[in-house]
Amino acid sequence: KPPQVDITIKANELGSVLNKDIYGQFMEHLGRGIYEGIWVGEDSSIPNKDGFRLDVLTALKELQVPLLRWPGGCFADEYHWRDGIGPRESRPKTVNSNWGGVIEDNAFGTHEFFALAELLGADTYVNGNLGTGTPQEMADWLQYMTSDAPTTLVEQRKANGRDKPWKLHYFAIGNEAWGCGGNMTPEFYTNLYNQWASFAKTPQDNRPIMIASGGTDDSTIWAETLLKGVKPSWNLRMDGISHHYYTLPTGKWDVKGSSTGFNEELWFSTLEQTLRIEDFIKANVAIMDELDPEKKVGFYVDEWGTWYDVDKGTNPGFLYQQNSLRDAIVAGLNIHIFNRYADRVTMTNIAQMINVLQAMILTDKEKMVLTPTYHAFKMHVPFQDANYLPISLSSQPSYQLDGKTIPGLSASAARAKDGNVYLSLVNTQTSESVELNLSEVKQVTGWLLSDEKMDAHNTFDKPNNIAPVAFSAKVKKGKSVITVPAKSLLVLNLGKL
Ligand code: AHR
Repeated sequence: KPPQVDITIKANELGSVLNKDIYGQFMEHLGRGIYEGIWVGEDSSIPNKDGFRLDVLTALKELQVPLLRWPGGCFADEYHWRDGIGPRESRPKTVNSNWGGVIEDNAFGTHEFFALAELLGADTYVNGNLGTGTPQEMADWLQYMTSDAPTTLVEQRKANGRDKPWKLHYFAIGNEAWGCGGNMTPEFYTNLYNQWASFAKTPQDNRPIMIASGGTDDSTIWAETLLKGVKPSWNLRMDGISHHYYTLPTGKWDVKGSSTGFNEELWFSTLEQTLRIEDFIKANVAIMDELDPEKKVGFYVDEWGTWYDVDKGTNPGFLYQQNSLRDAIVAGLNIHIFNRYADRVTMTNIAQMINVLQAMILTDKEKMVLTPTYHAFKMHVPFQDANYLPISLSSQPSYQLDGKTIPGLSASAARAKDGNVYLSLVNTQTSESVELNLSEVKQVTGWLLSDEKMDAHNTFDKPNNIAPVAFSAKVKKGKSVITVPAKSLLVLNLGKL
């Protein structure tokens, strides 16, 4: 008999707003993430609108992508924005030294990025080049993007086809300064941040949220050093600190584990690894709460997701991996954790949107499939800008394997903008279902993503092998008993409670 759990949702204890940007996406010049993934050019035989492939565009619109981060990642610290403007045929060709050493023809640049964001109705996050750029180059880029003044740079933007400045929501000074962004110490980067951010000026009415490059995994020294060393003034702001954490099934970079064909041990260890992010967030938030009690500075997990060994036969520099039910479970667990810290974690970006790491969409020339992670994100759309609601469980089913334990059930609730209360549930266990008693609900309808196989995934031949199915349950006098199947993600609309 499955364990019985009572869940209580405190429907009137409205918590923080779950900033829609918590559900943000990352697109880097990496492998087929941008080229082929979304950008095919106007002359492509793949149906497109202004160079953006229509199938992917339509799928992304349905996903209601709230935020796009571009152009990297590691790529950002070698990106010179002037290479990506003006007539495409005269843009310089450069080498993408981080990702496969391929030729970058710069066909996708600033104008294309903002055009895509406008087509999707997404907020914009541009990552500046601290590694190989100059403060002047960065200041010029900011002026090009945000200014309306009659300067030569703004005239150049207009001549390139964009009259009005774009809305730039977020801007970061460098990426992974501890690694590919320059192998710096936190102290050295903090000094550079002070200098560069002082000259990262924009018009008052078009100021982006300014982000400093922070730490990774369990490190807290970056947040601490930045908060102690950056003293905001009229020309120096730091509104957020970024943090990166990738989920490796084995926890090791040399042999990470494969995207499909894994056993239960690797299913378990992947979930165990992904759950570690909560401790990392907690530790950083504790330091930030001490040094920034007014919570002026956000903690942005602007790269997260699964990182497997690349799929066999693919370019190792392209980070292409299949995406299975396990990834959807990972997505659900991370979303629940971010929601819990939504007063500080107001923006995150899963890495990456298309064809790279934990992608929403995979393409093979003219073909496209939606991944289980796509479905997980789509199921959570009602959580965008919803209000967090506290919940409690009468007991926690535990999932045990080889002497290790993780929670068997994870849950997160919110009151959406439409007034309905939504409940997201993840059953991490491979063979045990959970019987959940809901009370004081109006209705139980929603979507269930689950499968017999741990590595259920979609292929170009079988694009609908795994997709959410409609779910509903009876409600009697406000009570309902539902079964949360093993290996499942379930998102429910419980009505206007
Ligand atoms: O997302 C892939 C890479 O991972 C990014 O370029 C970098 O920031 C991180 O190391």
